[in-house]
Amino acid sequence: MKIRLAKDGSNIYSGLIVPVFEGETKVKGMDLPLKMLKDKDKFEGKSGSTYSLTREDKDGIQEIVLLGLGKSKALTYRKLQDIIAKGFRKIKGAKVDEVGIVLSHITFAKGSNKLYMKAISEAVLLADYTFDDYKTDKKASILKKVELIVEDTDKYASAVEEGKVVAKGVIEARQLVNQPANILHPQTLADRAVELGAESGFQVEVIGQKGIEDLGMEAFLSVARASSEKPKFIIMRYNGNPKSEERLGLVGKGLTYDAGGLSIKTTAGMSIMKCDMGGAAAVIGAMKVIAERKLKTNVTAVVAACENMIAGNSYKPGDIIGSMAGKSIYIGNTDAEGRLTLIDAMHYIITRENIDKVVDIATLTGAALHCTDDVATVSITNDEDFHRAVEEGFDASGDYVWKMPVYDEYKERIKHTEADLTNTAGKPGTITAGLFIGAFVEDLPWVHLDVAGTAWATKESGIQSKGGTGVGVRALYNLAKSYE
Ligand code: BES
Ligand code: ZN
Ligand code: ZN
Repeated sequence: MKIRLAKDGSNIYSGLIVPVFEGETKVKGMDLPLKMLKDKDKFEGKSGSTYSLTREDKDGIQEIVLLGLGKSKALTYRKLQDIIAKGFRKIKGAKVDEVGIVLSHITFAKGSNKLYMKAISEAVLLADYTFDDYKTDKKASILKKVELIVEDTDKYASAVEEGKVVAKGVIEARQLVNQPANILHPQTLADRAVELGAESGFQVEVIGQKGIEDLGMEAFLSVARASSEKPKFIIMRYNGNPKSEERLGLVGKGLTYDAGGLSIKTTAGMSIMKCDMGGAAAVIGAMKVIAERKLKTNVTAVVAACENMIAGNSYKPGDIIGSMAGKSIYIGNTDAEGRLTLIDAMHYIITRENIDKVVDIATLTGAALHCTDDVATVSITNDEDFHRAVEEGFDASGDYVWKMPVYDEYKERIKHTEADLTNTAGKPGTITAGLFIGAFVEDLPWVHLDVAGTAWATKESGIQSKGGTGVGVRALYNLAKSYE
C-alpha cells in the first residue's frame, strides 16, 4: 500500500475518512459527507467515535467513515494515532481500493500540524501491517493507495516522508520479532542486520564464536553454550557527524529464543519466547531509521545474539562464571540469562566503541508486566538528565515509559557471598535485573529499558498488530535526533 499527500478535489476515492473535532462537525468549506448525515446530532466528534455511511452517485459508491478526534486540546500523538488506526481499519474492512483522508479542514493545536501529519502517515502504515509470511492462503489487500488530502502538499511533504521512514523501521522490528525462532536465529539475525546496513547506510561487523572467545565474553558464552546455533556479536555503527566526538550507544537484548535453560520455562512461557530479541529488533530498526533519515549524529548499536537452550554442556544453577569486565557472577537461575548477555555487550560498547551515553533495551523480566503490563516500558537510570532526554523521545513517539526507583537497598541485593554478583537478586525483579546491568555501566549516563511487557501484543489494537510491536524504534530514533 502506498501513502502520499494530495490536494483537495484532485481525486475520487472509493473510501473516505473524515476526521472531525468534537463540536466542529459543521466545517466550513467541506462540501461533504457531513451534509449527508441524516441524524447529524448523533455524531458529535467525540474522541474515538466513528460513523459509517455509503454515498452513491454517478461516480459510483463511496464508503465514508467519520472519525471523532475529541477536543483539540486533549489530542495527543498517541490518541491521534489510535483514532486514525481505528478509522483506517474500518475503511479497510469496507473493501475499498483507494482511500482519501480529508485533512484540509483540520488545524491541530499548538503548532503541531506537521508533527501530527507525520503521526497520521505513520499510523496508517502501522495499522496496515499484519504478519502473514507463512500463510499459504494469504489474500492480498485490495487497498492500494491512501492519500492525505491537504491544502498545501509542499508544507507537509517532509513530515509525511519522515512518518513513512519511521513506520518502515517499526515494521522491520515487528518482522524480526515475529519471525519464528527456527527461522530467525543468531546467524539470520546478523545476516539481516548486514543487509539493512547496506541498504540504509550503516556499517555492520559480525563477530563469531572465536572472536567472542577472544574478547573474553564469558557470561555471553555461558548462556549461548548449549545451543547448536552459534552466538553472533553484531556491531552497527552510524557516523552521521564526523566532526563530533559525541556518540550514542545502544545495546539490544538478542535472545533469538529463550527456553530458560536448565531452569526451564513452561510450554506456555516458552511459546512466545521468539520475542526475546525485541530489544535487538528495536536497535536494528532504530539504526535503519537513523541512517535513512541521515541524522547528523553518531550512533553505535550492539547485540549479543544467541539462544538459551538445554544440553549436556548447559550452564547450571549454582555455577560461578566470569565476564568480559572481570567480575564473577553466581548463577541462581539460568532463565535470568538476558542480563548475562547484556553485561558483556555493555562492557564491550563502553570500553571499545567510544560512546558517551548508553541505552540498553531488553525483554528482561516477566516482572515488568506486573509493574505496567503491556502499556508502558519500565526504565531505570543513573542520570536524570539523560533519562529526561529518553523520556522526551518516548513522549514524541506516542509510547509510554515509566521510571523505577534505584535505592541503595536494592543495589545491595545484587551482591553474592561467593561471587561478586548474583544473577537472581530477587524482588523487585525488574529493578534488581536493571541494576545488575547498571553494575557494568561505569560512569556513563545510562538508561535501561525493560520492554518485556511492551515488545509483544497479545491482540490487535490501535496501531498495534498482534505479535511484535516494534517498541523502542521510534523513541530511540527521536533520542538520536535530539543529538543532531
Ligand atoms: N525473557 C525473559 C523475560 C520475559 C518474560 C520476556 C515474559 C517477555 C515476556 C527473561 O529471560 C526471564 O526469563 N526472566 C526471568 C528472570 C527470573 C528467573 C529471575 C523472569 O522474569 O521470570
Ligand atoms: Zn530467561
Ligand atoms: Zn530472556
